[in-house]
Order: sequence, then structure tokens, then C-alpha cells
Amino acid sequence: MNTPNLKETWKKHYAIAPSSIDKMSQVDGVISAYNSNIDAVLKITPKLIEDLCSELKLSYEEITNIAYSKIRTKEDVLKAIVKCFTSGIAEEWLVEEVSVFKWLQERIGYDRLQMGGQAGIVANAMAVCGAQNVYVHCASLPKLQAELFLDLPNLKSCDEKGEIKKAHDIDRTTDLPLIHWILEFDIDAEINIDGHKIKCPKSNRFIATYDPLNFELYTDSYFNKQAHNLSHDYIVLSGYHMLTEKLPNGKTSADIIDNSLELLKGWKKGTRDCVIHLEVASTQDKVVRKQIIEKIAPEMDSIGLNERETIDVLEVINKEDLAKKCDKETTSANLFDGIVAIKEKTKCPRIQLHMFGLYLTLQDKNYKISANANRNGMITAAVVSAGKAGTGAINDKNALLWAKDMEVADKSLEELERLASHIKSLYGENALMSEGICSTDKYDIIAIPTILVPKPLTLVGMGDTISSISLVASR
Ligand code: GLC
Repeated sequence: MNTPNLKETWKKHYAIAPSSIDKMSQVDGVISAYNSNIDAVLKITPKLIEDLCSELKLSYEEITNIAYSKIRTKEDVLKAIVKCFTSGIAEEWLVEEVSVFKWLQERIGYDRLQMGGQAGIVANAMAVCGAQNVYVHCASLPKLQAELFLDLPNLKSCDEKGEIKKAHDIDRTTDLPLIHWILEFDIDAEINIDGHKIKCPKSNRFIATYDPLNFELYTDSYFNKQAHNLSHDYIVLSGYHMLTEKLPNGKTSADIIDNSLELLKGWKKGTRDCVIHLEVASTQDKVVRKQIIEKIAPEMDSIGLNERETIDVLEVINKEDLAKKCDKETTSANLFDGIVAIKEKTKCPRIQLHMFGLYLTLQDKNYKISANANRNGMITAAVVSAGKAGTGAINDKNALLWAKDMEVADKSLEELERLASHIKSLYGENALMSEGICSTDKYDIIAIPTILVPKPLTLVGMGDTISSISLVASR
């Protein structure tokens, strides 16, 4: 089939999106935990990067000499920015020093505040898509944070007395605002450091995070208590990625993870057969990354990750060669092998990769969500996230379907083609190109080409939006 015909075919598949969103109102409850925070977003200009480098008297050699992925000094912030800018990649480093946090506030500032943290972003997305009850965990919920939750009656959290209330209206006055800096840069922007000209190959962002509560996966005891009695169909989890092996307060990530898995058993008790999904997220600490894969992922019904996170996981499951291959050529074909390796390691029944231009789900045969339902969910997620990229936010129903008549991108079809021919070499002829579904003896493979918005207004939280909508709209 040629490209125009393929685009036509996918347009027909994509026509499911509006009714899929409507069906999300059948969902009784979604719990979204753990990390909600405030994102301070700034488009960082080449001039600001250059000015900061010269203010800090950083040479090109110094700036490219990276010994650890943490922020202890102002210089570390610049190292991370230049690294992400140079390769057009997304990373998140934790700020360990209050003085650097203050410097970020004073010297760098922000353009706007928006909802941050996987749990917060997922909660807003689920609520605007119409799930009947969305319960969001917040380590901290002062007014500044609460106001970033959509003003919707179905979006709830715990107030200072432990009562479930509309999240937008809560004000836990003594809670500290938890702020993350999202520094966005644009494709083709150019910086000059010490005579070294660097051109940014892909629009992306670097996140500098100062967040003492979510760093330790602080759990609101009121929320935990309520979660034991809430009726819910889905639990979407994230936030483990912010842990470090040993915390300054003496706790270890291993204990924190064990404790959280114990709590989770309680959350699952008494509810229907709920689906628990983990969004892996960018995890800098390799020990924690390994624990997420070895301890948490096997307990999940579903996990979600992007291309970078896939490579990072491969590095900690003794698949360094495959990690290198995926890093060198980040294609759907290589990443498919990566996802298979992760699936074999974790035995998690459903894994979803969201990469530039393509979403791919690999799941056990006879999994509780059918391949077709998955495809519907993934398509819905593609439309909604294109709406988010195109309009900057999905704060109302209209933005959800902003992209519904757009075509899938040429690049996306090329990526799907790469995958289809790789699958052909492994399992024989398949209909991935036109149907997006291929069943093998072992797995169902579902892949869709996505809509690509040429000049996205935002990229933050895209993965969280994609994963949660893919899952909950799989009906
Ligand atoms: C990370 C960041 C958070 C951001 C989110 C988007 O959790 O810490 O600030 O909103 O990623 O996915």
C-alpha cells in the first residue's frame, strides 16, 4: 500500500477516538499516585544559556565533563542543559542543594506554572476525559498546587482533615509548594560556547527537580487510609524514579519500595479486578532503576516507558549491548527487541513503549485487554496528546479532540514500516502496516503511527498522558 492509502486507512482507524473518549465515562474510579508537583516552565533561550556559561566562567571542556547526573552546584545545571540541548534529549536531574534551588528561582525564573508530576498530570488527563472519579495522591497540597488541578467535580484528593474533596478547592495551608524547573529548548536553536557551535537537533526539555517530599516517596497517610476503601478500576503509579538508593534521612529506596508495595496490597483489597500500571519515568539512580524493574514491575499489570527509559532499563538488566544498539539507532525495530527483553525479565503481562512517531504495546496473549481495545486506546491517546502538543494544554473537552482530523505523519509510517519488516523477519508476514495488530504464538503486538504536531507548544508530561489514556481508553 502506498503512503496516501495508508494514511487513509489510518484515518479510518483514528475515527474511533471521539467515541472512545465518551466511553471513558464508564470508568468508575482511577487512583493516580504518587507524585504531584508544580512545574515552573521556561523556554530557555540560546542567549540565556550562553550568558549563564559566561557568568559561571565555564569552558566547553568543563561543561561537557559530566561525572554524575545530579545537581549539587549551579555549574551542574548548565552541564545538564547543554547535554540535553546538544543531543535533543530529555533528562531529569535532582537538585540536592537548597542554594541551587534559590539560584534557579532568582536567576532563571519561569514563564508559567503548570501541573507537574506523573500523578498530577495523569489525574488531570483522566478527569478531563470524563472518568467518574479520579483520586489523586498529593504529598503536598497548598493552594498553589491545588489550583493547578482542573476545576472539575470528578477530580478529588484529601484535605488536611483526610476528607476526600474536590482537589481544586483544597488548601493544605501548612504544606510546602514542591517546584520543578522545566527548561525547554527548540530544534535548530544554536548556542556558541567557547567558539564551539552547537545546534539543537530536536525540541526537548531538561528538568531540574527540587522536591524533598516526593524524593522520599512521601505518602499522605490520610490518602493511604482512604485508598483502602475507594472503588476503582485502575491504579496508575509513578514517582519511584525520584528515589535514590540511600536517602539523606537514612532511609533506603529498597525499604521505601517494599513499604509501598505493601500499601498497594491494601489499595487493591476489596476492589474489583483493577489494572495497576506503572509509568517507569526517567530514573537516574541505577540501583533504584534496577529495583523498579526487579521489585515493582513484576507486581504490575502494565508498565509504560519511552525510548530513553527503555535504553536505561536495558542497561541494568544485563543487556548492555542491546542498550548500546538502541542508543546508536533508536528505531522501533531495535526498541522492539528491547521491550521483549524487558518483558522477559519482568514477566509483566503488558508493556507499552511510546516513542517519537509510534506507540507499541507488547502483551501476553489472552491478556484482559484485547488487542483491538488496546489499539483503540492507543489511537485515543495519540489524538489527545497531539491536542495537548498543539494547544498547549488539555484543560477542556474541546482540546481533547483538536487533532482528530489530522493525518498520521510520514515519519510515523516510516517507523511503523521499520517495525513491520523487523516483525516479518522474526515471525513472518503481518498486517501491522494497515491494521496495527499482529499476533504471534507468544504475544500480541499492537503498534500505531501517531500524529506529529510540527511546532508543539508543550512536551512535558506527554508520556504520562499517552500511557494513562492508552490504558483507560482501551475499551
Ligand atoms: C517528572 C518531573 C515533573 C514533570 C513530569 C512530566 O515527574 O519531575 O516535573 O511534570 O516528569 O512527565
